[in-house]
Amino acid sequence: MKVLVTGATGFLGGHLVEKLLSEGYEVRALARRTSNVARLRELGVEIVFGDLTEPETLGPATKGVDAVVHLAAYYTFFGKKELYELVNVKGTQWLAEAALNNGVTRFVYCSTLNPQFEYGRSKARAEGVVKNLAARGLRYTIVRPTGIYGPRNVDDVAYWFITSYAKGGLASRVKIGTGENLIQFAHVADVVQGFMLVLEKEDVAVNQTYIVSEDRWYTYNQVYQILRELTGKGPPSVKLPPLLAKMLLAPLELYDRVTGEGNLMHRIALVDAVTSDRAYSVAKAKRELGYRPRYDLKTGLKEAIEWYRQNGYLG
Ligand SMILES: NC(=O)c1ccc[n+]([C@@H]2O[C@H](COP(=O)([O-])OP(=O)(O)OC[C@H]3O[C@@H](n4cnc5c(N)ncnc54)[C@H](OP(=O)(O)O)[C@@H]3O)[C@@H](O)[C@H]2O)c1
Repeated sequence: MKVLVTGATGFLGGHLVEKLLSEGYEVRALARRTSNVARLRELGVEIVFGDLTEPETLGPATKGVDAVVHLAAYYTFFGKKELYELVNVKGTQWLAEAALNNGVTRFVYCSTLNPQFEYGRSKARAEGVVKNLAARGLRYTIVRPTGIYGPRNVDDVAYWFITSYAKGGLASRVKIGTGENLIQFAHVADVVQGFMLVLEKEDVAVNQTYIVSEDRWYTYNQVYQILRELTGKGPPSVKLPPLLAKMLLAPLELYDRVTGEGNLMHRIALVDAVTSDRAYSVAKAKRELGYRPRYDLKTGLKEAIEWYRQNGYLG
């Protein structure tokens, strides 16, 4: 079976491509001209250059494959509204239409469970696009991972949070709210397992949506405790009430907006994110796909921190 993977140069995509190859799939990657494709070349992956924002490149990319796994995204929390629409919504539509035009009906879309930011809202709109195309014969599956962490994650919230904590930075010193809100994570290997099962169990997965994650949630205080055991740092001793946190963040966010700089930690929406419960059930994926997440947070974080240490991300 030949699979086109978009976002193959990214964190999740890199892990998924390796797993697909090890399981005997043929893999083609969509990569931008600016993408670092060295690792994909090393792995012998077929590369088709293109861009989600250039629809004319998506026909050649989708031609002759059996399925598309669409991971590529404008994945940032402080991006430009028009780019969320262009890359995440329009790009998904153009890719799925290109697949359909080439007779490729199997389309697996990686979404998210993060509604607080425009990023998450654009992914939700893209889900709508994918579902609408079912009327034209698209056999879609939507996979919604919780926050993903693991080796080689060097550019997002989980990365910032884990490395800041392990270095005794802000994350290990300040917490917003009581710390009793719920949060849920997924080790990258468990997310990859979800995508593999969706491809293998096509008959049950068609036109379905699945959440993939560790099969339990944690309070932030429990996460701090685990990180404390693994790093010897924290737990945070400064507690900021949510309203005060928002007042402190407001000028920083404004400054970022004016200068065009971006720091997720400067976003007021972050306060709502960490003071609301984000707990989900993976029961459907377990029941229908046989999904069995293998990593508990402590084991997974231990591995991730070790990787950061060995690769120079902890100074
Ligand atoms: N990480 C998480 O915690 C998390 C949680 C839930 C869902 N997700 C979803 O998982 C997917 C993968 O996330 P990730 O963490 O692996 O992100 P990532 O490391 O930032 O990778 C993003 C990928 O998208 C590609 N890309 C971006 N814009 C593109 C465009 N215009 N055309 C073609 N390719 C483009 C990037 O290519 P370049 O190499 O050229 O930049 C890169 O390969 C995304 O859909 C994200 O929304 C992630």
